[in-house]
Amino acid sequence: MLITGGTGALGALVARHLVVEHGIPSIVLASRRGIEAERAPELQTELTDLGAQVTIVACDVSDRTELEALLDSVPEAFRSLAWSMPLGCSMTALSPP
Ligand SMILES: NC(=O)c1ccc[n+]([C@@H]2O[C@H](COP(=O)([O-])OP(=O)(O)OC[C@H]3O[C@@H](n4cnc5c(N)ncnc54)[C@H](OP(=O)(O)O)[C@@H]3O)[C@@H](O)[C@H]2O)c1
Repeated sequence: MLITGGTGALGALVARHLVVEHGIPSIVLASRRGIEAERAPELQTELTDLGAQVTIVACDVSDRTELEALLDSVPEAFRSLAWSMPLGCSMTALSPP
């Protein structure tokens, strides 16, 4: 599962919900600062302790090249949904769940 804006307030909330309530095993949290974002290391530790494999990456999703590289880095099996925070909280299907 890829969550853009994943290190922000709503991104963290969604990530926790997906891990705890839906047992999502692998999550990629993307934001421009990545692991340098405030509270990102703590969020990674928290979600890992809850049982998820968590990757935090730096990616500006308004940059097509960076976004393509990010999507290419996510195994197809995990590309079911992207939570797109900077684009106004829209949920976008990238491939059939
Ligand atoms: N919180 C609420 O109650 C609420 C209610 C209604 C609507 N919203 C809207 O929902 C959105 C998210 O809210 P939030 O409270 O979670 O905000 P937030 O805490 O500021 O989080 C925003 C996240 O988006 C990332 N981000 C911003 N621009 C980006 C870009 N170009 N590429 C990749 N990542 C980017 C930020 O990290 P970086 O800065 O490191 O990129 C951060 O992780 C906002 O548009 C907000 O207006 C929020």
